[in-house]
Amino acid sequence: MIVDAQGRRFRNLRISLTAACNYACTYCVPDGKRLQAAQQELDSREMLYAVELLIDATGIEKVRITGGEPLLSPKFDVLLPSVMRLPLSDVSLTTNGQLLTRKAATILNAGVRRINVSLDTLDPEAFPRIARTGDLATVLLGIEQMLAAGVRVKVNMVPMRTKNADQVLPMLDYCFERGIELRFIELMNMGHLRSGNQYVQDFYGMDEILDTIGSRYEFARTDAPYDSTAVRFEVPGQGVFGIIANESEPFCSSCTRLRLSSNGRLYGCLSNARAHDIRDVLGLPRQQALPRVRHLLGLALADKQSLNFRGEVTVMKFIGG
Ligand code: 5AD
Repeated sequence: MIVDAQGRRFRNLRISLTAACNYACTYCVPDGKRLQAAQQELDSREMLYAVELLIDATGIEKVRITGGEPLLSPKFDVLLPSVMRLPLSDVSLTTNGQLLTRKAATILNAGVRRINVSLDTLDPEAFPRIARTGDLATVLLGIEQMLAAGVRVKVNMVPMRTKNADQVLPMLDYCFERGIELRFIELMNMGHLRSGNQYVQDFYGMDEILDTIGSRYEFARTDAPYDSTAVRFEVPGQGVFGIIANESEPFCSSCTRLRLSSNGRLYGCLSNARAHDIRDVLGLPRQQALPRVRHLLGLALADKQSLNFRGEVTVMKFIGG
């Protein structure tokens, strides 16, 4: 087992199928930019072998499939069922939902039990002001389809003062009505947000979120698992919501996440640009590959920050949150 001085080890792996995204959200890319696929993506076979090696080398228990936007990737249909067959306690997926209806059969046939959908507003006019493209009704249809099939859905919302702070309560009610856990993600100061004043203007943190919710509901904080990134609250009789309080209550000290990018790089920390290339190892048979993978994992674990999330660089967008 590879463990660091703070007792952290890798338990959760996030695999980014592609760095490309069909949205261009204002918190992710500057005006006029769009995320593109990486030059040399791993193919599905390489990616699956990488995941198998990581499970063997470090005891990964959970896998999340992310992007960019994972449903855009031609690898999705092949990789999803293969990952579902691996010895894992949990496989889930994060999507912006735009292609959910089109990929519903693949997702349901693979036996996926839970998904996270990123959705920042229920206002059809505000929607393209945040995502810069896309169609709200299509996303909502996708969510309904998943719920109808018995898939557990979580919704991620990044509240921003000038863009969707008015949506905190409508989003919460929408989610309560459907048994969805809504998670507010505090805006992270990454990439282009680090220059200019968009971050300062738009940051809408845990205190403000709770004040807003408190104007309508009584809530109580509930226990969260050791390596959960969310602070969770219960509104009796209504449901549960969470806040991923990167800024207000950083969770680096219990972070168990490892990330594999679409082009075969391991990242030990979302806010550290250091990466460890696994591609060379993928040509080796398992017994030769494993010690090499363990070595890379030791390096990746040392990349974790000890206290809080500094967001120096912006690896998030192409390896997913
Ligand atoms: N701050 C907070 N959340 C972000 N996401 C992307 N960029 C940022 C940022 N700067 C979120 C998306 C999605 C998840 C994968 O990451 O909204 O829910």
